[in-house]
Amino acid sequence: FVVNWNAEAAEKGGFEHFMLKEIYEQPKALRDTMTSRLDAAAKTIGFPELNWTAEELREINKIFIVACGTAYHAGIVGKYYLEQLARVPVEVDIASEFRYRDPLVDGNSLTIVISQSGETSDTLAALREAKRLGSRTLAVTNVVGSSIAREADQVVYTYAGPEIAVASTKAYTTQLLAMLMLAIYVGRLRGSMSAEREQELVRGLTFVPEQIHKMLENVDQIKVFAREYGSSEDAFFLGRSLDYAVALEGALKLKEISYIHAEAYAAGELKHGTLALIVSGVPVIVLATQMDVYDKTVSNLQEVKAREAVVIAIGFEGDTSLEKYADHVIYIPRTDKYLAPLMAVLPLQLLAYYAALTRGCDVDKPRNLAKSVTVE
Ligand code: G6P
Repeated sequence: FVVNWNAEAAEKGGFEHFMLKEIYEQPKALRDTMTSRLDAAAKTIGFPELNWTAEELREINKIFIVACGTAYHAGIVGKYYLEQLARVPVEVDIASEFRYRDPLVDGNSLTIVISQSGETSDTLAALREAKRLGSRTLAVTNVVGSSIAREADQVVYTYAGPEIAVASTKAYTTQLLAMLMLAIYVGRLRGSMSAEREQELVRGLTFVPEQIHKMLENVDQIKVFAREYGSSEDAFFLGRSLDYAVALEGALKLKEISYIHAEAYAAGELKHGTLALIVSGVPVIVLATQMDVYDKTVSNLQEVKAREAVVIAIGFEGDTSLEKYADHVIYIPRTDKYLAPLMAVLPLQLLAYYAALTRGCDVDKPRNLAKSVTVE
């Protein structure tokens, strides 16, 4: 009798890779990140760890969000949240750009740095630069006591638990959640968020972990797509508004671990270049969860379809009209437009994971990449 396991296999809890395990940990990670900030009975958001007064928050006239990699993509979603719900102008910067571009940051700015590890050297340097220029600072990070957590004025932790796989998954969704809750909270304190809208969003949020759990129960369709299209050398991700922000993360996931050349485009930019790359058989993933721009997205979908791309659309359950235009449709539970990114990214994470398996790639340790980039 041979016991065939080792410490690493045990840590993976029965999953073949850390990445898959971490994808499946998202319902718990989200629940843990919500728990102390969400009052389910009163349907309000609070941040006991933040000591801002409403007056202080009203003094902020600009927010900078600064991060790298996946955390940067969470920042782009965060911009939509903060601008639309809290009505503050937001700029999102890649940390290595922010630190050298002499940004117009001052005492009325709030700089939010997002970092899973809390140790990324460019993000840390950007935080220091923002502080030097007099900005208030807030870190959104997953690691208690990390350099970024220690140096920022205020910290909001994501409670994703340890993330081992190089490709970030549960850190991203918890970052989105943290940014959404922050936007709701800041919006209320600044008076731009109605109590009804807050209640609606909080109610929607309480369903998300279970909805994601259900989505993860059956991923056969995605495995089939990954096998079918995994040998492609290029893939495109299109969307508008929040769907575009999620498309960026979908493309990053695919290139990081499957080495397929993947690009995300704002669907409205298609005609300004990308369309030249759309030829017969190229997989194009179109996100269509944002109803205010839905018709425009669908017309972009038809444009790529007319060039014989293979279109996989991602839309809300019940939106069968997508089947008329796309080759395949992946459905996500119907939800509020601000909550859609939390769910729309799931099929993209899984598509990247299974495409990497199809191609025999080392999912948890992709070539040339590191989990934490602590040198410039
Ligand atoms: C590396 C990792 C990415 C991560 C990025 C930022 O590139 O491979 O997954 O998004 O660093 O890391 P951070 O810890 O600052 O979120």
